[in-house]
Amino acid sequence: MKKNTMMVFGLAMSFVITQAFAVTTPATKVKGDAAAGKAKSEVCGSCHGSDGNPSAPVFPKLAGQHLSYLTKQLQVFRSQSRANQDVMNAMAQSLTDQDIADISAWFSSNKLKPEPAEKNDLGQKIYRTGIPEKSVPACAACHGPKGEGNPTSVYPVLGGQYSSYISKNVHDFKAGERHNEVMQAVANRLSDDEINAVADFASGLQ
Ligand code: HEC
Ligand code: HEC
Repeated sequence: MKKNTMMVFGLAMSFVITQAFAVTTPATKVKGDAAAGKAKSEVCGSCHGSDGNPSAPVFPKLAGQHLSYLTKQLQVFRSQSRANQDVMNAMAQSLTDQDIADISAWFSSNKLKPEPAEKNDLGQKIYRTGIPEKSVPACAACHGPKGEGNPTSVYPVLGGQYSSYISKNVHDFKAGERHNEVMQAVANRLSDDEINAVADFASGLQ
């Protein structure tokens, strides 16, 4: 019964997000070219790695992330509705819709280097079944059983992403520093320990 409620929540939310995405991101209609994106992304590579697998976990992996998600994030960095004043707002400022399409095509076409699997019972429980008594939905309902996300609903890949980045971003949603109705509702109900546990587990999925 509870599980069904979670699924309905997930489906309803994915509908809301899909609709919002369709309205706010017309530039997804621009067709990207990965080879052009490779040439245009040289500056990005110094932090994110030339293929989107960075050498240090302070920078998120972009390789293998969904095209739709990379496109959306570059658009919201550019419009500053996702704040990252030190770096990403400035980086995205000079990108045209065509640049965004090309660069997103490049990074999404590369293979993500996985992270070692993490045995974390609390993290696994939260990821797979949520926390019903706190109305936390299973992450898997949207981010997929293997952390593969969903390109159509614009749910990002989490499997193989650095644990520290997953944890930081859930904390950012919780603190209201990063805005997304769905993720803020999820993050608000998680304690710091729960966030760290589920980040460890999700990172090791592949
Ligand atoms: C000086 C280092 C640096 C450079 C150069 C840089 N980035 Fe970033 N990028 C970051 C950091 C740090 C973050 C994480 C921000 C956060 O924690 O929210 C980030 C986040 C991102 C994200 C969000 C990923 C996600 O999973 O949410 C995308 C997409 C991205 N960068 C693309 C690019 C592109 C494309 C370029 C080149 C045009 C670029 N970055 C250049 C440091 C950099
Ligand atoms: C109802 C669907 C849904 C559920 C359930 C959900 N998420 Fe998300 N998640 C999203 C969406 C949508 C985004 C993209 C938000 C945006 O566009 O900024 C997202 C983004 C994220 C990001 C940012 C990743 C990145 O690369 O920038 C992290 C981390 C994350 N979710 C972790 C979790 C965790 C951990 C759970 C379980 C506790 C969870 N999510 C449950 C829909 C969901």
